[in-house]
Amino acid sequence: MNKIGILTSGGDSPGMNAVIRAVTRSGIYYGAEVYGIMNGYEGLIDGDIKQLFESSVADIIHRGGTVLGTSRSERFMTKEGFNQALKVLKDYGINKLIVGGGDGSLRGARELADVGIDVVGVPLSIDNDLGFTDYSIGFFTAVTTVTNAISNIRDTTESHGRANIVEVMGRNCGDIALYSGIAGGAENIIVPEKGHDFKEIVKKAIVGKNRGKRHHIIIMAEGAGDSRKFAKEFEMATGIDTKVTILGYIQRGGSPNVLDRILGSTMGNMAVEHILNHLGGYAVGVKAGKVGIYSIAEALKVEKVFDDNLDEILKIISI
Ligand code: F6P
Repeated sequence: MNKIGILTSGGDSPGMNAVIRAVTRSGIYYGAEVYGIMNGYEGLIDGDIKQLFESSVADIIHRGGTVLGTSRSERFMTKEGFNQALKVLKDYGINKLIVGGGDGSLRGARELADVGIDVVGVPLSIDNDLGFTDYSIGFFTAVTTVTNAISNIRDTTESHGRANIVEVMGRNCGDIALYSGIAGGAENIIVPEKGHDFKEIVKKAIVGKNRGKRHHIIIMAEGAGDSRKFAKEFEMATGIDTKVTILGYIQRGGSPNVLDRILGSTMGNMAVEHILNHLGGYAVGVKAGKVGIYSIAEALKVEKVFDDNLDEILKIISI
């Protein structure tokens, strides 16, 4: 009897529950037992594990967060913690493991694969910072949340004739800023992958103001610097009353959108199909619209590339 364990790890992301549901139901459908490991690698170390049934995952596909809980486990990165996790897997007879999470979580999964555990990693992160997949699950919901926030900010910014620096998440990745900048019609984005020309940004704001523009929205990725400091400098240089909005954790919560539910469901199903028929370590991802499966070691070597083309389009349509 195959026993599949599933855990979610790292920052939660909308769509985690869709993956948990798809893994549980697919596992049962293919004749395996499925076990939910609570709070990521922490629950794996502590043996905080419960069997999941068809009904355990009812009524969760539309919910944000993760019903299994999550954590950023420091203990798993220690030798003792890692070995304890291996012991728990053995004690429970869990011979297959599905890990949903971002970069750090999937690196943890690869380490388990390196010592012979059959693992499939599912990319779940709002940051979209994994090179092997065009999109990680949760990214588009976060971008939608940010875009809606920009629309609200735009109303008040326009009314007062101000500028607003909107700080978004993403760690070292500028994708949330890039995609929401396009969708929200921002004047500029500032991302960690690229330097920014302060003088050009100031010039654009002044030209816009002289043309009668009553708002100036700049999306700044959290990894690109200090948004408050930038706002002060921008206000000094332009003379435009400038406010800062740090969107924070609202970006991580909320009901997953259609795309994240579909990606979560299809990737979760593919992870189970694959893990039941193959040994070793893998990751699921999406490339050019197709969900596929890759060696986890190779997948994690693929560098994330910033989309210069989208960035160029943003520049052109925000003049
Ligand atoms: O990885 C997702 C993310 O939301 C990043 O965008 C952000 O930098 C980080 O997690 C925040 O982590 P925490 O929840 O530990 O504060």
